[in-house]
Amino acid sequence: MVVSAETEGKMMTGKKPIYPIEEWTVTEEVFDRKTNYRNETTFSLSNGYIGTRGTFEEAYDFDVDTGLEGNFVNGFYESEKIRYGEANFGSPMYSQSLLNLPNLKETKLYIDGEEFHMERGQVTEYARILHMKEGFLERGLVWTSPSGKAVRIRTQRLVSFVMEHIMAARYEVTPLNFTGKVRFVSKLQADVENHTRKTNPIVDYGPFGRKLDVERLEQDGQTLYYEGTTQTSRLTAACGSSHRLYVQEISGMAEGGETACGVKEQRAGETETACGMQAGELEAVCVLETEAARGERVVLDKMICYATSLDRSRETLECFVRSELEKAEETGFEALKRQQEEYLGRFWETADIAIAGAGGSALVQGLRFNQFHIFQSAGRNSRTGMGAKGLSGEGYEGHYFWDTEMYVLPMFVYTEPETAQKLLDYRYHTLDQARARARVLGHEKGALFPWRTINGEEASTYYPLGTAQYHINADIAYALSLYLQVTGDREYLKEKGAELLAETARIWADVGSFAECRGGRYCICCVTGPDEYNVLVDNNFYTNLMAREHLRDAAAALRWLIKEEPAAYERLKEKTGFAEQELDLWDEIVEKMYFPYEEKRGIYPMDDGFLMRKPWDEERIPAEKRAWLYENYHPLFIMRHRMSKQADAVLGLYLHSHLFTREEIQRNYDFYKEVTLHHSSLSTCIFGIVACGIGYVEEAYKYFMQSARMDLDDYHNNFYAGIHAANMAGTWQAVVNGFGGMRCQEGVLRFAPVLPQAWKSYSFKVKYQGNLLGVTVTSEKSVFSLLKCGGVEKKISFTVYGEQVELEEGGKYEISKV
Ligand code: BGC
Repeated sequence: MVVSAETEGKMMTGKKPIYPIEEWTVTEEVFDRKTNYRNETTFSLSNGYIGTRGTFEEAYDFDVDTGLEGNFVNGFYESEKIRYGEANFGSPMYSQSLLNLPNLKETKLYIDGEEFHMERGQVTEYARILHMKEGFLERGLVWTSPSGKAVRIRTQRLVSFVMEHIMAARYEVTPLNFTGKVRFVSKLQADVENHTRKTNPIVDYGPFGRKLDVERLEQDGQTLYYEGTTQTSRLTAACGSSHRLYVQEISGMAEGGETACGVKEQRAGETETACGMQAGELEAVCVLETEAARGERVVLDKMICYATSLDRSRETLECFVRSELEKAEETGFEALKRQQEEYLGRFWETADIAIAGAGGSALVQGLRFNQFHIFQSAGRNSRTGMGAKGLSGEGYEGHYFWDTEMYVLPMFVYTEPETAQKLLDYRYHTLDQARARARVLGHEKGALFPWRTINGEEASTYYPLGTAQYHINADIAYALSLYLQVTGDREYLKEKGAELLAETARIWADVGSFAECRGGRYCICCVTGPDEYNVLVDNNFYTNLMAREHLRDAAAALRWLIKEEPAAYERLKEKTGFAEQELDLWDEIVEKMYFPYEEKRGIYPMDDGFLMRKPWDEERIPAEKRAWLYENYHPLFIMRHRMSKQADAVLGLYLHSHLFTREEIQRNYDFYKEVTLHHSSLSTCIFGIVACGIGYVEEAYKYFMQSARMDLDDYHNNFYAGIHAANMAGTWQAVVNGFGGMRCQEGVLRFAPVLPQAWKSYSFKVKYQGNLLGVTVTSEKSVFSLLKCGGVEKKISFTVYGEQVELEEGGKYEISKV
């Protein structure tokens, strides 16, 4: 299949790599204020609880266009009363914004009184490196001060996966041509506010100004401590830092670095500590100073801790923060770093993807960058989800969307199911808010999840693009069903899954009707599908399809519960008022669901009105406005045209591909390819996956090239605001579900690998029902190896190009490419 010039024009063209191509690292070779904002996202670190942007210890005075100091705790938000011009009943009255918390990374360095600043004096040998295998950030450089004093500087930072509340930093300074004073001024800066860009009212709503009221600000020896409460959401954040300064003797100042040979002495120098909490004072500082000579290295180890009233009672916060800091100090920076590497090592052992062939290294770097950010952004404590921007920036106010369930969760289901479960737990945990929301929308039973949220309540201020996306219910159910199939976790189904499936399914049974004018078929009106350029439509194909499959899965789950776990079923009935007759209605809807269909082309239009809309004429739109329609055109202008922002029907055809013939998928794909603008980062990866399944392998490859390095090379020019988590995880799906042709549907695991011409081979691993399966695809063959056999059955069954395969411990299956 040849890609037409027109289609190709619609795909965004790849940019030149921003950073050098390296397999396990991302390196910034020069510091430049102009690219700082974007690079802060590249170098952001997180552990799913704390998130911190890749800002510098020097705390530069960047403005709203050049940088953002950002420190976040997943789930910690501030609200503001939303002022609407014309609010409707049910509009959320309070916003939720991931709140920027006090900054404790700031550590200013003075060499004999001269302040280290990368824009003064001279910087050489600069490199800032993200170590994706080991999970830390490093910066190295030599700085010659304006007066000619030269120091080698190395900073390292990590956000610990093992100690959820801890961020650790090491600052090393080696005098190269002088003996003098090295002074660190470490700060707890509580004068922080969100940056939230004011340019896009649809996606960003405040909060503007400082929102945490300081309640405690203390210095105690070399420990700084803070507590503050938000003005409206009334949540308390606590944080603190502890310091240890020492001097090491360096043996050998040879090129390429020095070797430390033990600690010569450990002294705090003339440590001064100062702090202020008088009116207007919002910072506490700890000053550490020592004398250092050539041949010595000064090291400052700093531990930082965040905790909030969402995790524990307010009264225990201080004690907790101080004891976590002590524990972190006892563990020490080196040990924290080792633990980090081990933790990440376990993830990479399963999740890493190998690609050999043209551009292999660049693609592998892009994939690892994506997976690293996904891995570090997912909430893991059952109370938090994962933002569309992870914890890497303030974009989308830190909200969780369907991006988690449809894009991110599948990757975790197959690589780290424990994390997938925690993300599902978050939805379960907010089921009550979803129940309340359903009532607001007029549903007497069931639960309707919010389109965007942090605390479980709807935070979308614009219902046509928000609450109307009812498909979120089915998306969550889809992710849950996938988790259950792939892990075989019946306990989860019994304890939480059945309730989640049932409560969300009930909405479908209430939202539509068996319409006479459609031959008694079940129609769902006035919803928005995934495509945000076609809103408040009737019978969105994706929504109807996902709703039907949701009802099917929910009915099966409840029938299983009734039969196998009657006591659990009784509890569910009691809690939700569920009646068995509801299942009959669900069955009827499953049987009679309506789908828009056009006979002539044999396609499923996106919704009832799609084919009536005016054909889109790109020529009318000035080039600079093309990718920014909502910023430049009234929504009505956009919505009246026959075009699409992102994968919508095509996504449904991927997720439930077993229900359609290949020809059917091909016809629809051909149609949607012509009308889809890919203005959302969630689109190209899905088109690529579907293209693989219908044999358009080279076209799939082009789509893949649009998504694999999308963030690393900043194709959308908005990486400064945070990662595009959905696309990042979508690239994992593009390899495994796309090229590998993997699906898990109706309890069957299937593969149908294809290989793009540019590649010699690729390989990946997936976890399936306690087993670890390795897949390698070359131009000659595909090899499937059971690497670990952990399931109850002690074997794994799957199909390859429709052939049934069964492997036992150590088993291998090879098939020549067909
Ligand atoms: C997309 C949505 C997505 C949101 C957050 C929007 O531009 O259209 O599908 O959920 O971004 O990533």
